[in-house]
Amino acid sequence: MAKDNSIEPIPGSVSFLDGAGELPKIQIKTANSEAELYLHGGHLTHYQRKGEQPVLFLSQLSRFEDRHAIRGGIPVIFPWFGAREGFPMHGFARLHEWELKQVFPAGSKKVGVRLCLPEVPEGGIFSSFKAELEISLDDSLTIELLVTNTSSSEELSFETCLHSYFLVKDINQVSITGLKGASYLDKTDNYQRKVESAENIKIQGEVDRLYLNTPGAVEIHDSGFGRRIRIEKSGSNSTVVWNPWIKKSEQMPDFANDEYLRMVCVESGNIGDDRITLPAGKSAKLQVVISTLPL
Ligand code: BG6
Repeated sequence: MAKDNSIEPIPGSVSFLDGAGELPKIQIKTANSEAELYLHGGHLTHYQRKGEQPVLFLSQLSRFEDRHAIRGGIPVIFPWFGAREGFPMHGFARLHEWELKQVFPAGSKKVGVRLCLPEVPEGGIFSSFKAELEISLDDSLTIELLVTNTSSSEELSFETCLHSYFLVKDINQVSITGLKGASYLDKTDNYQRKVESAENIKIQGEVDRLYLNTPGAVEIHDSGFGRRIRIEKSGSNSTVVWNPWIKKSEQMPDFANDEYLRMVCVESGNIGDDRITLPAGKSAKLQVVISTLPL
C-alpha cells in the first residue's frame, strides 16, 4: 500500500486490505457502521449502517484500474467538473492514487483517515495547491475536501464536487427534496437555465441538472427501502442531480444497462458560477455529512 510506513492499522477499526484489481483499500469500522475506500482516487466505495442496506451504489461493472475512475461510491472531482478539452473528464483527482497521511484513533467516537493528493504530472495550471481528504465515521459519514492555494502570489480558481452515487431500491419510488425554487442548468436541454418548481423531485427519465446557489441540505426519500438519505453540507453552493436513465446506461461500458434503476447521484460541490477562487495562501473546505433516517 502506498502510504507512510509509520502509519499502522488500528485493529478492529481501520484495516489495510487488497481491494478489487489489487488496488489498496482501507476499511473503517465503528460499532454501528462501516466504510471502505480506495487510495485510487481517494474514492469511497462503501458505507453501511448496521442492519441497513448500503448507502452508496457501486456498479457491478466498475473498473478498478489505474487511470480509470471507479463507477459508483463517491468520486472526488477536482480541479474541474465536466469536460475540459485535452484533459480528462471531471478533473484528475479521481484518477490518481492518494497518499494515506493519518488514521484517527480507535476508542474515540470518530474513526477515520486523512489522505493527500500527491503532485500529478498533468497538473498544468493547477500545480500550486494542496488537496486533502478526510473521511470519518461517527453516527454519520463525514467527508471533507480541503484545498489550499500554496502559491505565494497567484489566485487559484477551481471546481470541486463529491460526486456521490446513492443506492435506492427502485428509482420509480424515489423523490428528492430540498431544491425547490433553485435555479438550475439542464444539461439534457442544452444547458437551459430553469427554476425547480417541485417540492418532491421525481426521476422519470434522464436527469442531469446543475443546481446553483444551493447550500442547504438535500434528502433522498426512498419508499422502497423505507428510508431517507440526508445530505448536509457546508462550503458547497452547487448540487448536481444525475441519473443516466436507459440510453445513457447502455452507452457506459462500466455501468450495467439496468443499474439506473438502483441509483441516483446527488452531488455536492462548487461548479460553474459557484467555482471557488482562492487568494494566495488561503484554503477552502467542502464538507458533506451523510446520514440515514426512517421515512
Ligand atoms: C455527472 C454529470 O456529474 O457525471 C454528467 O453531470 C456525467 O453529465 C456524469 O455524465 C458521469 O460522468 P463520468 O465522467 O463519471 O462518466
